[in-house]
Amino acid sequence: MVCVSKNKSYLKSQHLKIIGQKTLRGKVKISGAKNSALVLLAASLLTDEKIILDNVPLLTDIEKMGNILKNLGVKLHNKDHQLIIDSKNISIQELPYELVNGLRASFFCIGALLTRFGEASIPLPGGCNIGERPINEHINGLRALGAEIIIERDVVKAKLVKKKSKLFGANIRLNCPSVGATETLIMAASLAEGRTVIENAAREPEIQDLCQMLNKMGAKIYDSGKEKIIIDGVHKLHGCTHKVIPDRIEAGTFLIAAAATSSSITVSPVIPNHLEAVLNKLEESGSKIIIKGNSISIKGNKIKAVDIKTAPFPGFPTDLQAPFMALMTIAKGRSKITETIFENRMNHVELLNQMGSSITLKNNIAYINGVKRLRGRTLLGLDLRSSAALIIAALTSDSISYVYGLEHLDRGYENFELKLSGLGIKIKRQNTNNVNIIDEQNTILNKKDISEIKAA
Ligand code: EPZ
Repeated sequence: MVCVSKNKSYLKSQHLKIIGQKTLRGKVKISGAKNSALVLLAASLLTDEKIILDNVPLLTDIEKMGNILKNLGVKLHNKDHQLIIDSKNISIQELPYELVNGLRASFFCIGALLTRFGEASIPLPGGCNIGERPINEHINGLRALGAEIIIERDVVKAKLVKKKSKLFGANIRLNCPSVGATETLIMAASLAEGRTVIENAAREPEIQDLCQMLNKMGAKIYDSGKEKIIIDGVHKLHGCTHKVIPDRIEAGTFLIAAAATSSSITVSPVIPNHLEAVLNKLEESGSKIIIKGNSISIKGNKIKAVDIKTAPFPGFPTDLQAPFMALMTIAKGRSKITETIFENRMNHVELLNQMGSSITLKNNIAYINGVKRLRGRTLLGLDLRSSAALIIAALTSDSISYVYGLEHLDRGYENFELKLSGLGIKIKRQNTNNVNIIDEQNTILNKKDISEIKAA
């Protein structure tokens, strides 16, 4: 199943017009982390007291998650980047498929609902176009904690084993350091009876942010960010106020855009050690990096080809593989990009090649011969990070590009084009119906052509 927006008209109704060959300059404000805010929203189900989340990014994924919580009876009040969440009166019911479809993070609610209410029914999140996205690690871990789980007509139904009123602590070893499974099990274990140890746990900063908020709520979680996390279940969790950490993937995307356009910019706020692997690769490829407190400045330079291999944190993040590939397409020399986390996260290769890149793909490894420059094109992004990669490639090209598929981009980047224009880029969000799209052969593309544009 490809998680492409149901709302086709949105797909055709908006695009970005980007004039290439401009450099970026100045400072860009980084929003709160999407992948932290999403799990913190799920965690708010663990208490009947108020949770106040600050620095929440304005993204369609966050909106979708908010609708899921509201469907459960949660009261949500949002004021600018602050969310006030009241989960006092929740009615446990099966979440409707159309609400959860395409939002992987919806599944993270299962641990919180199960441990607080003793039952939960969540439709299978399904795969999307970066991979099959299984949930076996979530299911196995919840069963180890004492849940009875069946999957009926694509709905995961979980409940406590008969007679038990709570989950009970267990020793769990994950086969792979799944971010989502680690988060699901931490939330489930936080109200379980006794101690849970999760081995081979994911160590991403978003998990550390979750544990910080849960401990503020009265949880007893030790060693988040390490491979072995210990959770001593408590009887009840109370409300708190928590500020979402800055989005390391957004920050990395802007740094890569600066490197690709030989620009000098500053990104802030950011937590530098959340981006160590990316900063090392940017320096290796020729950029100069200066870290000052919670800001990182970059001075782009001639781009040297470097190899990257994605890995769980603290390795090179899979979410920056596509943007970094856009950088390597115009680097001097040959580079190799190996994607080890998702089996289908190379949707951008073909489109980058149509912009004049020279990339060959074999078994999830991209071999890139750097070229001088790329050509502006009319492009259709089909997943969140590929769309960002196409925009970076368009910035470096020698002409105008039109990027479609903004419903993916808007999932994970707040006001992306406004932030880029704030850095001096000529970029505009336009409604397609009232402008004629001229492609590089100077022919006017109509809606039919657009719908047939090869998706990234
Ligand atoms: C989270 O997804 C992020 N999403 C992803 O960000 C990110 O790419 C990913 O972690 C890896 O860092 C959110 O936090 C909402 P995983 P998640 O479970 O939790 C396999 C973005 O662009 N696996 O760590 O779904 C799975 O197939 C998004 O912002 C199992 O085998 O990722 C994959 O190969 C995309 N069984 C690998 O683990 C399971 O039960 C990593 O998946 C779960 C996962």
